Amino acid sequence: MMTFQEQIKQGIPVELPLIKKYNTAINHAPKRKDILSKAEKELAIRNALRYFDKEHHVILAKEFASELKEYGRIYMHRFRPDYKMYARPINEYPGKSEQAKAIMHMIQNNLDYAVAQHPHELITYGGNGAIFQNWAQYLLVMQYLSELEDDQTLIIYSGHPMGMFPSHKNAPRVVVTNGMMIPNYSKQDDWEKFNALGVTQYGQMTAGSYMYIGPQGIVHGTTITLLNAGRKISKKGEGLAGKLFLTSGLGGMSGAQPKAGNIAGCITVCAEVNPKITEIRLSQGWIDEKITDLGKLVVRVKKAKENKEVISIAYLGNIVEVWEKFDKENLYVDLGSDQTSLHNPWAGGYYPVGITFEEANEMMANNPDLFKEKVQESLRRQTIAINKHTERGTYFFDYGNAFLLEASRAGADIMAENGIDFKYPSYVQDIMGPMCFDYGFGPFRWVCTSATPLDLEKTDAMACEVLEELMKNSPKEIQQQMADNIQWIKGAQENKLVVGSQARILYADAEGRMKIAEAFNNAVKNEKITAPIVLGRDHHDVSGTDSPYRETSNIYDGSQFTADMAIQNVIGDSFRGATWVSIHNGGGVGWGEVINGGFGMVIDGSIEAGKRLKSMLFWDVNNGIARRNWARNKGATFAIKRAMEVEPKLKVTMPNLVDDSLLQDLF
Ligand SMILES: NC(=O)c1ccc[n+]([C@@H]2O[C@H](COP(=O)([O-])OP(=O)(O)OC[C@H]3O[C@@H](n4cnc5c(N)ncnc54)[C@H](O)[C@@H]3O)[C@@H](O)[C@H]2O)c1
Repeated sequence: MMTFQEQIKQGIPVELPLIKKYNTAINHAPKRKDILSKAEKELAIRNALRYFDKEHHVILAKEFASELKEYGRIYMHRFRPDYKMYARPINEYPGKSEQAKAIMHMIQNNLDYAVAQHPHELITYGGNGAIFQNWAQYLLVMQYLSELEDDQTLIIYSGHPMGMFPSHKNAPRVVVTNGMMIPNYSKQDDWEKFNALGVTQYGQMTAGSYMYIGPQGIVHGTTITLLNAGRKISKKGEGLAGKLFLTSGLGGMSGAQPKAGNIAGCITVCAEVNPKITEIRLSQGWIDEKITDLGKLVVRVKKAKENKEVISIAYLGNIVEVWEKFDKENLYVDLGSDQTSLHNPWAGGYYPVGITFEEANEMMANNPDLFKEKVQESLRRQTIAINKHTERGTYFFDYGNAFLLEASRAGADIMAENGIDFKYPSYVQDIMGPMCFDYGFGPFRWVCTSATPLDLEKTDAMACEVLEELMKNSPKEIQQQMADNIQWIKGAQENKLVVGSQARILYADAEGRMKIAEAFNNAVKNEKITAPIVLGRDHHDVSGTDSPYRETSNIYDGSQFTADMAIQNVIGDSFRGATWVSIHNGGGVGWGEVINGGFGMVIDGSIEAGKRLKSMLFWDVNNGIARRNWARNKGATFAIKRAMEVEPKLKVTMPNLVDDSLLQDLF
C-alpha cells in the first residue's frame, strides 16, 4: 500500500485503479443537461482521454461515455483517491516549496467531505462551484505542486494544469483562470456545453481559487448584513430581539444564515428542500430545530416571537410555501431574503414549488424546457407572496443570488416604477457597499497551515489586539464597523465556526489587514505560531469583483457593467507578491454576469513576506476604493483621502462633483 506522499507524487496512477461504487450516502451534483451533439460527445471523450496512456483508452472511453450519459459530465470517478480528503498539517505534504505545500493544504480543504457540497464531483459550493473538472486534473495538480520549486509557476486553465513554467521567487507559484470566455460565449448554455466538453469550468469565487473555508466565511458577512439591516429597520434604536428573518437555503453559503441570525440575535426561519443538506446543518449545530410541517412552523414561530427567543429553525420544504403560509396567517416578517442558487437556475440552483425534490431533479435533466417553465412560475408565485409582505412593512433584500434578476426575467412583478430598477435593493446597494466596501472593509481571512486549533486561537487574540489598538484612533465614520468586527473576533472561538481547516474570517480595512498580517508574520518568525499562515479573502470584496447586481451594485456612474477593476486587481496582486492569483468568470450571480478575482499569500515569517504583505494588501484594497471614489461614492472618497495621507506614493484621480441644477435643461 502506497503512503499518502507516494500517492501524491505519482500523479495519475500507471495501473488503472479499481472502479469506484457510486456512494449514495454522499451529496451528489444533479445530473447535468444533455447538451452535446454526437460529434461533440466524441470530442468530449477524446478530450478526457488526453490525460491517460493509450493502453487504457479502450476501457476508459466506454467508462467516460457512460459517465457523460449518466451524469452529463465526465468526472473520472475511478481516479478519485482513496485517502481521506482534508487539510493536513503542511509538513505532511511532499514537496520542495513551502508555498506549494500550503496550496495543497488549501486544495484538500476545498474537497473535504465536511466542507464541499458535492465532493465526488469536485464541487465546493454554489451547486456548480468547481475546484477541478475531473479527478485527473486533481491528481496532476497535486503532483505538479509536489515537484514545484520557488522559481517556477504552475499555470491552471479552468482546473487543467497546463504546466510549470520557469519564473522567479517573487512571482506567484500558481496562476489560475476559471471560465474565462470570449464575451459572446458566456451564456448559461455555453457553460453547460463547454464544461461538458471538458474545456472550462465555473470556479465560483473561492472554490476555483482554493480559498473557501466553509460557511464560516459567509457567517461573518451575513452577521454584519443582518446587524446593519436590523439598524435600518430599527425605529427607536431597539435591536433584533423577537424579530423574524425569513429566508431560504442551507447550502454552502446560505447555510450560514441561521448561525448569523443567532449571533445577530433574531428568530431565523430558513427553508431548504434538500433533506440531506438539512441533516448536515442540523448535525453541525448550524440550525437549532428542524420542522417539516407548515402548521407546526407557524405555531413555533409565534411562540418564539412571544418569548423573544434567539432561535434558528429549518423548514424542510419549499420557500414559496413559507412566504405564502406566513402571509395567510398574518405572521409579520421583519427581514426577508432568499439564498437559493439562482445564479444557476436551470441546473439545480432553484427548486420550483409544487413538485417534489426528486421530481425536480428528474425533470431538469430529462425535460429541461418544462423545468424552466416551473422555475419561472415558482419565481412569480414567490414574488407575489413577498410583495404582500413588503406592503405590510417587511424589509426585503436580494442576497446576491440573482433572485431579483431571475424573477424579473420570469416576468414577476419585481420592477420599480421607473422600469429600470428593481423594487428591492440588493444587500450590497443598501448595506455592504456604502457601509463596508466603500471604506475598504471586506472579508479578509487566514488559515493556519499547522492545522492546530491552538495556532488559530493565538491568531484570533493577535487580530483582536490589533483592531482594539487601531480603534483607539479610528475616525467616527468607521467606528461602528470596527466595533462589529472586534465583537465578532471576540466571539469567534465560542461560536465554534471552524469546519475544515483552521481558518478565520474577519472583516477589516486596508490598515487592519496589513497590521494583522504583519503581527502574524512576526509570530511565525518568533515561532509563537508553529507554521506558515495563508492570507486570503473572499472575492466578494472591495476590489476583487465587478458584478453589477452585487459587489458593484452601488456604483452609479455606469461603470458597474465594466470589469476593469477585477482584472487590474488580479494583475496588480500578481506582481506585488501574491503566492497565487485567480480570475474567474461568473462567481456568485452567474456565468457571464460577473468577473471576480482573488489571491492567496503564504507568510512564513521572512523579511520578504513582510514586504510582500504590505505592498500587496495596500493595493488589493485601495484599488477598489479608488474606483469607488471615482464613481463619486462618498465613503470611498473619505477612505482614499485617508489612504493618500498615510502613503505619499499614492496619488489618485479625484472626481469633481456636478450641481444637479446644471443638468436640468441640457436636453
Ligand atoms: N451570502 C452571501 O453573502 C452570498 C455571497 C455570495 C453569493 N451568494 C449566493 O447565494 C446563493 C446560495 O449559495 P450557496 O453556496 O448556499 O448555494 P447552494 O447551492 O449550496 O445552496 C442553495 C440551497 O438552496 C436550496 N434551494 C433551492 N431552491 C429552493 C427552494 N425553492 N426552497 C428551498 N430551498 C431551496 C438548495 O437545495 C440548496 O441547498 C448563490 O447564488 C450564491 O452565489 C450569497
